[in-house]
Amino acid sequence: MAVFQGKHIILGVTGSIAAYKAADLASKLTQQGAQVDVILSAGAEKFITPLTFQSVTGRRAYTDSDLWGGEAHILHVGLGHSTDLLVIAPCTANTLAKLAHGIADNLLTVTALAAGGEKTREIPILVAPAMDAGMYEHPATQANVRTLKERGVLFIGPAEGRMASGLVGLGRMVEPAEILGHIRLALGRHGRLAGKHLVITAGGTQEPIDPVRYITNRSSGKQGYALAQAALDEGAAVTLVTHPTGLTPPVGAQVLEVRTAQEMLEAVLSAIESADGLIMAAAVADFRVKQVATHKLKKNEGIPHLELEAAPDVLGTVANLRHRLKRLKAVIGFAAESHDLLENALAKLSSKKLDLIAANDISAPDAGFSVNTNRITLLYADGRRQSFPLMSKDEVAQIILEQVAALLE
Ligand code: CTP
Repeated sequence: MAVFQGKHIILGVTGSIAAYKAADLASKLTQQGAQVDVILSAGAEKFITPLTFQSVTGRRAYTDSDLWGGEAHILHVGLGHSTDLLVIAPCTANTLAKLAHGIADNLLTVTALAAGGEKTREIPILVAPAMDAGMYEHPATQANVRTLKERGVLFIGPAEGRMASGLVGLGRMVEPAEILGHIRLALGRHGRLAGKHLVITAGGTQEPIDPVRYITNRSSGKQGYALAQAALDEGAAVTLVTHPTGLTPPVGAQVLEVRTAQEMLEAVLSAIESADGLIMAAAVADFRVKQVATHKLKKNEGIPHLELEAAPDVLGTVANLRHRLKRLKAVIGFAAESHDLLENALAKLSSKKLDLIAANDISAPDAGFSVNTNRITLLYADGRRQSFPLMSKDEVAQIILEQVAALLE
């Protein structure tokens, strides 16, 4: 992923049973394209070896034995200054206390001081605490947490759950996939869309027939979620308006869950009041049942005759409000078509007063609903057209976000 490419990340690992999960995190970061230097504390070495990290990162892992070697006087400064981000996962109560008080008695804490000490370049420090039940809530730890938060250190968790000790409580390290999301958010914070707010819709809506049945469509939500992630990667604040898809929303997105076209309309209208852009990737229902049954329709009542009526058109409604929404500079729609792709897309571009529409032919088996790939043509309000080959939905999202950034500049 572009947001990780060429980024230098220091992963500090301290003495907790969750240290084994740090190997997964190191592996995930490396796979995303980051250059990962791992520093193990002496406690961490009791749980996991440097070789484990070297094997997944392809780089040497550092330990306290490096603190007293020949290059020691420059190592912590070099590591600390060249890094884009320092993450400590798992971070014990002991290391939290050291960070809060500026104690620098091992390579990791010395590096943390060096990384934070340079005033000219702000380096995000993220910590994922892991400790036994009761230790996180202890007033001493809480005081340290407050000190570090005031200093801008970002906390990921801890989560509630069962500890290795058998106790249940607050203190489990957050799972590596979620930590990765927080790192991604921190790395993207100064992107092209920093300071901008985008509203992105995803998935298909559900129009009820009775309390147990509804009409929906094949939209998986994947394209909308990929757009939300790509927007966060560029530093935007994101409101994701989505029906319950079962997909994990990207870390950092404000999620508004809706079911019907009416609910989506209301959520979008309230969110766009403060938005710079709207991307309607959702497949909103065009029709809904006029009289929704209040009880479950029974077979012995005969075959129901469902009368349909038009569902609200979200983009159509926004089009009529654009003169009032001065901040809303980029409105993007999708045209999912099974025939006359470009003609239909052009008609929607103009009737919905869009700045850009992404047209895709859903009759192709490898594009559109449910699959992981898409093939789009972008049509602009100013008459420009761009066609793209088959791409992943993540790549499509990046291309659309580049256009959004250009529209907002
Ligand atoms: N859309 C919307 N509200 C609706 C239907 C669609 O806001 N009730 C948005 C979609 O999110 C998409 C764009 O309008 O960005 C085009 O959607 P599409 O389903 O292709 O077109 P429709 O306007 O529904 O027209 P038709 O179904 O006749 O093709």
